Amino acid sequence: MEERTFTIIKPNAVAMGVTGRIIDAFLQDGFRILAMRLVCMSRNDAEKFYAVHRGREFFSRLVDFMTSGPCVVMLLEREDAVAELRRLVGNTDPARAAEGTLRRMYGENVTRNAVHASDSVENARMEASRFFREEDIVVARYEP
Ligand code: CMP
Repeated sequence: MEERTFTIIKPNAVAMGVTGRIIDAFLQDGFRILAMRLVCMSRNDAEKFYAVHRGREFFSRLVDFMTSGPCVVMLLEREDAVAELRRLVGNTDPARAAEGTLRRMYGENVTRNAVHASDSVENARMEASRFFREEDIVVARYEP
């Protein structure tokens, strides 16, 4: 079924200059981009985005990292988008991520793991709504 999912190209990947390669991997895998922005998250943005992890020992490390530089946020669409993006992105810990996955290629450790991928359609919708208004979402079909 056609689904939408949400992704963040995290500050370490943007700083490494691999934003284009990651976007290309999404496109080659059949994802369509419905919305995209370069953003610098405030601490408040990052704390709210990751509120479910508040209280975990890694929370402040995660917020420090996510506010350390610009990120690229994107709303993507394809068949089974949530599961397919998580497959392409790989395990949260780059050391455990399968060969060929984006975190294996561009992740440095479990905090600086290059890419975020939503874990459900509902969370994707909520996460995307923090960065995109309805009118930012482009649903036009592209002709090659
Ligand atoms: P992400 O997919 O963006 O969602 C939550 C993030 O928390 C996750 O990627 C990791 O970057 C981070 N995270 C999860 N578990 C740990 C951990 N044990 N130590 C540090 N960071 C973690």
